[in-house]
Amino acid sequence: MNQEIERRRTFAIISHPDAGKTTLTEKLLLFGGQIQVAGAVKNNKIKKSATSDWMEIEKQRGISVTTSVMEFDYEGYKVNILDTPGHQDFAEDTFRTLTAVDSAIIVVDSAKGVENQTRKLMTVCRMRKTPVIIYINKMDREGRDPFDLLDELEQELQIKVRPLSWPINQGQRFKGVYNIYEQKLNLFTPDKQHITKKVEVDINSDELENQVGKIDAEKLREDLEMVDGVYDDFNRTNYLDAEVAPVFFGSALNNFGVKELLDCFVEIAPSPRPTQAEERLIVPEESKFTGFIFKITANIDPNHRSCIAFCKICSGKFTRNTPYFHVRQGKMVRFSSPTQFMAQRKSTIDEAWPGDIVGLPDNGIFKIGDTLTAGEDLHFRGLPSFSPEMFKYIENADPMKTKQLNRGIEQLMDEGVAQLFVNQFNGRKIIGTVGQLQFEVIQYRLENEYNAKCRWEPISLYKACWIESDDEAELEKFKQRKYQYMAKDREGRDVFLADSGYMLTMAQQDFEHIKFHFTSEF
Ligand code: G4P
Repeated sequence: MNQEIERRRTFAIISHPDAGKTTLTEKLLLFGGQIQVAGAVKNNKIKKSATSDWMEIEKQRGISVTTSVMEFDYEGYKVNILDTPGHQDFAEDTFRTLTAVDSAIIVVDSAKGVENQTRKLMTVCRMRKTPVIIYINKMDREGRDPFDLLDELEQELQIKVRPLSWPINQGQRFKGVYNIYEQKLNLFTPDKQHITKKVEVDINSDELENQVGKIDAEKLREDLEMVDGVYDDFNRTNYLDAEVAPVFFGSALNNFGVKELLDCFVEIAPSPRPTQAEERLIVPEESKFTGFIFKITANIDPNHRSCIAFCKICSGKFTRNTPYFHVRQGKMVRFSSPTQFMAQRKSTIDEAWPGDIVGLPDNGIFKIGDTLTAGEDLHFRGLPSFSPEMFKYIENADPMKTKQLNRGIEQLMDEGVAQLFVNQFNGRKIIGTVGQLQFEVIQYRLENEYNAKCRWEPISLYKACWIESDDEAELEKFKQRKYQYMAKDREGRDVFLADSGYMLTMAQQDFEHIKFHFTSEF
């Protein structure tokens, strides 16, 4: 078992849309021998905010556009890539996926640098102390100065960086990268199909001039000296402690710097790490199985509602047809057809190990965050919900279908599609999302899967935040004073609905002993 655990690398590739996440994923799969041609992963992408696109993709893939898992063997390692949706409106999904990974690769566009989504995702990684590697992509285009980029990464992502490769020019003049980690020169052949040429060159020999020319050779030597001067030597422990992020440069589209990234990744990235449960810390090597559900996707077949719940195995071996304890429901459940995934395929498996993700057929028994064990009463810490950014009242548009509507809303919320708050003042249901697309998706799915109709009504809200305080009296006073703005989330926690930034700031000033949380994990 220890061997199986040791060789597993479970991670996610994250980026701001368009930085090249899909392209990089695809190239990694090519190296892993899982796909033979480029273009196979492309359909996990929606650029336009249109339900029709989303539905088209749903149909093509059979399962949702949202996270699925791709796995392959590489050099003795078992690599599990957790795919995250390309569309910003599904960011919440990506946040949740990050709870199931042991490390992450962040893709950054060399011309755009750190973008909004990168910043947010990094916040989640920091919260969870997830080790990250940064891949600076699109070096074949004119981008920013590498030193400036590194400065920006450090400042904006609040993490130390350490380049492990260094570019020789960029754009039209891009000649390749020097792999600091392997001490090899990789020359760029701007040909999109083939593996690039790799030459072993001593950085101080004349051979470097022969390969890249005098000017670039000198510049490279200067740059490397500077790199060594400015950045501490790479130290794996610091990387694993999420204190430093190794940085690679390349061009995913041109298949450049990808193999170097993968080679280094499998070597330095962590194998499955311990998971904190409320009761105790679970280490992967424990003999008994434990796991949690971090993702549920619906199968868009209007005739029968079947879902797949994605379970991350935290410890022990998972075997097919074995009864496991569903902690929240307090009953044993057994799975006769657990699946594993590969881009568009899925196949039944007999066993799986810590770090693996298994897909469990779900007919409504699971909720995001559910724990499965071999019998122990354990609760993995709830997955974080983030304060949503868009809000609407959800109303029933077909009074004959109230039951269907309520069931649909409950189940969609169980899947984590959006968040539901109930205003304590008027009893109205408010749906909070991170993007407009989710409202469309909810409406579409309510109609198609639950035969219910909903109507959206505008509500002007700035933020919803969870509140708590040790000072009971002050909390009560706050709730009374703000009774119109108080809501409960599905777990019955108090949520304050601020209708403006000003209102929130004032509330924070007036009630010093109340903590306002912007994620539900506190
Ligand atoms: P995403 O998943 O992060 O959203 O990004 P994706 O891989 O889809 O890449 C976004 C765009 O950037 C794509 O172009 C892709 O071809 C391009 N790209 C990715 N890597 C590189 C690179 O190393 N160099 C250059 N020059 N471009 C790169 P597109 O026009 O949006 O899509 P497509 O028409 O190529 O499919």
